[in-house]
Amino acid sequence: SMTEGPMDFGGGIELVHNKTDAMSVAMLTGPREVKPDRTFTLTAEKKTVTLASGKQIDVWSYNGQVPGPELRMKQGELVEVTLINKDIEVGATIHWHGLDVPNAEDGVAGATQDAVMPGGKHVYRFVAEQTGTFWYHSHQDSRVAVQMGLFGALIVEPAIPSGKSSGEDVTVITHVWDEQGLSIGMETGVQRKQITPGTPVRIRLINTQDWVRQKYVLAGTSFQVAALDGTDLHEPSDLQDTHLILTTGGRADLTFLMPDHPVFLSVGSDKNLGILLSRDGTGDIPDIPKTEVFDPIHYGTPGDTLVTANSDFDREFDLILDNKLGFYDGQFGSLYTMNGEVFPNTPMFMVQEGDLVKTTITNRGAVDHPMHLHGHHMLVLSYNGELATGSPWYSDTLDVQPGDTYEVGFVADNPGLWMDHCHNLTHAAVGMSMHLMYD
Ligand code: C2O
Ligand code: CU
Repeated sequence: SMTEGPMDFGGGIELVHNKTDAMSVAMLTGPREVKPDRTFTLTAEKKTVTLASGKQIDVWSYNGQVPGPELRMKQGELVEVTLINKDIEVGATIHWHGLDVPNAEDGVAGATQDAVMPGGKHVYRFVAEQTGTFWYHSHQDSRVAVQMGLFGALIVEPAIPSGKSSGEDVTVITHVWDEQGLSIGMETGVQRKQITPGTPVRIRLINTQDWVRQKYVLAGTSFQVAALDGTDLHEPSDLQDTHLILTTGGRADLTFLMPDHPVFLSVGSDKNLGILLSRDGTGDIPDIPKTEVFDPIHYGTPGDTLVTANSDFDREFDLILDNKLGFYDGQFGSLYTMNGEVFPNTPMFMVQEGDLVKTTITNRGAVDHPMHLHGHHMLVLSYNGELATGSPWYSDTLDVQPGDTYEVGFVADNPGLWMDHCHNLTHAAVGMSMHLMYD
């Protein structure tokens, strides 16, 4: 059925993906018969929107807005999302970035479904099993679709809110809409927000911008990094004078108790773009401290995990990321390779359900490659030969810098055909994409 079709590996070109196995992803759906706990409708449509600066831009939107509406749900809920494509000619889908849904609900055109063409619709159903900060985006011609605006935040709240009051929850999506540069949502300056001192605050950072390793500094308070890529960290400690860098597609949740003076989230490292939080929304922006980069390898305390560096792995793979010059789709330029090959000749990693899998990812190239594995979370075991000693750190979009080597482990517990690609979607579009496949 949907298994032979144009494969979205980021670009606009169409390649036929020859599936090597007869397993039907159509069987790997969310519950279809029961009544959903929550329903959403997202309509993909072209729109002209006005940025906060007053400038008008043409976008591809969900429901007429960029970013699309924030989807909030509770853990354990059966969620039904209906996608309608009004007029996006290349087609559209919805991929739930970081949420490990059943394979047929993963929203990858050509792999788990056909792209929804103008006038068509598609219904997704999944149980939101994980809590945390995720995002959704179209996965058809995704390089263009994400740049044009077909994305939004997806937040899964705990079923039973833990402890105290639920507090203030601030979602910060950073994206570049045009030559005016980086924005938070559609705002290009300083936003102000009232928060009563003593309130627990959670800032959810989401970076959707290709190529930008985005820097965030929190000034005026100590804070914890409560979660990375939608997964809670174990016993996060207080940090100060520390900045975070998010790769494209990455997320981080920062938590703190609102003090009785202003706090500023600086996007970049100056006072021109960010969010000022204060009792009444007024007040001066605190000075931006000198900071060191957050170190997820040593942060927090160890906790129980299903895989460890000492696990007896059923499969071990090497993944070498590099670049080379060559032709792709008839055009000469830089190609981005996995084990020397470009899609669709990149390796296919074969696993069986229940396998403990280790992958060693090395970047031999000259640029950053945020590696995104669909349907699974990678536990970081080591970084450049050094064992991870902090909280278990699960990533779904791992920022692999030139020269870096990461060992990651995961449990093969979500059968199907899954993409594993660079989330610099311009790289995925010229080769850097492969599959993880269950046999
Ligand atoms: Cu965020 Cu394969 O995508
Ligand atoms: Cu890349």
